[in-house]
Amino acid sequence: MQKIKFRFSSRHVDAFNTPGVLNLMFLDITNCCNLMCQYCFNHHKLSLPATHLDIGLIETMLQSAVASRVGNWFLSGGEPLCHPRLEEALMLFQQYGHRPKIATNGILLTPEVIDRWVSLGVQSVQFSIDTLEPSTFRDLNAGSPENLRAILDNMKHAVASPLRIVASSVLTKVNAREIENIMLFCRDIGVDSYTLYPNVPAQKTNRDLVLPIDDQMELFDHLFTFYDDLCPTRLIDLSIPCFQFSQVYARWKDRLTIRLHPCGAGQFNLKITSEGGVSACICQDAAEFIVGNIHEYTIDEIWSSPEIDRFRSVYKEIPECRSCQIQSLCRGGCRNEAFVSGTRGILSSDPHCEYFERNVSRPV
Ligand SMILES: C[S@@+](CC[C@H](N)C(=O)[O-])C[C@H]1O[C@@H](n2cnc3c(N)ncnc32)[C@H](O)[C@@H]1O
Ligand code: SF4
Ligand code: SF4
Ligand code: SF4
Repeated sequence: MQKIKFRFSSRHVDAFNTPGVLNLMFLDITNCCNLMCQYCFNHHKLSLPATHLDIGLIETMLQSAVASRVGNWFLSGGEPLCHPRLEEALMLFQQYGHRPKIATNGILLTPEVIDRWVSLGVQSVQFSIDTLEPSTFRDLNAGSPENLRAILDNMKHAVASPLRIVASSVLTKVNAREIENIMLFCRDIGVDSYTLYPNVPAQKTNRDLVLPIDDQMELFDHLFTFYDDLCPTRLIDLSIPCFQFSQVYARWKDRLTIRLHPCGAGQFNLKITSEGGVSACICQDAAEFIVGNIHEYTIDEIWSSPEIDRFRSVYKEIPECRSCQIQSLCRGGCRNEAFVSGTRGILSSDPHCEYFERNVSRPV
């Protein structure tokens, strides 16, 4: 995912990632969910018959040599709390000495569940919260006012627990004007960091909610000002490497610490779908991104397969990237965003990069 993470605390530092060393396993452990967010990159799977990642397959992954060294196991979905055997899965992680992170919409994350997760060794919880307004929550996430109240109450309890609590929003046209309020709410109740994900849908047909890049830049500039006043930590992690060519970056780079990170697709992260497909990209399960299936191969085999090698070097074939001065750092930007919005499939150019190319004169 492309992201901008605003840190409220300097206590936590994300793991250092090395290309070629698997360090993030993103598990879509179920396709079921109790919401129906319009932007969801798994929207096309939410109404399919239920598939829950098999507990035996999770154990096989935990036993693989490459995956056993992974520092970050991220449980996602669908809604992880809709997996009927989530507790058993958490027990397995504990048995194998891993402390997973869990992304949740928070509706079912009651104080009792939080206490249970603490005892099962969960490391951190990421609450997804796109709005504080019941009417927007209904329109964007298809949830009720009671659902929204439950999320906000559960968040307030969770921050008082020993777990590390973070929060995130997907940036869309619908909630753009609210982001500042959500960030303030999260800081005030005591979450550790707030992440904004620019909406990158998984399908070409679902792009109505994407905020134009011009407006994104204006909002980022505004949010940097707001964050600079709000929080003395002044530390932002941003995973859009070509952002370094923007005017907003030029304006802020000496006032805030802005760490730029490349996409980890197939380089240090893998996603496992609830049916067992293995995708290089966290947000995409189109055939172009699939590098294997855990029903047929082990993670060790997939991590050194010709399929993943091909994916890793695809950026070298993108015409726009060939003469780029930061090609080895950026590796073609976000392949998912390029794939969904471009005309050359997985070899399309990254729209953020195209935007900066058009609007900023780059150093030579
Ligand atoms: C697919 S959700 C699954 C876990 C859980 N149901 C939740 O919403 O947190 C995982 C994360 O992806 C984010 N997400 C979903 N669709 C997205 C999109 N189109 N672009 C960027 N992030 C997205 C969600 O906001 C959430 O933080
Ligand atoms: S290609 Fe996938 S993993 Fe990489 S930044 Fe884009 S959405 Fe994220
Ligand atoms: S709560 Fe999560 S999985 Fe469910 S629809 Fe929203 S983003 Fe998708
Ligand atoms: S040209 Fe390609 S490698 Fe260079 S910044 Fe743009 S997307 Fe990244």
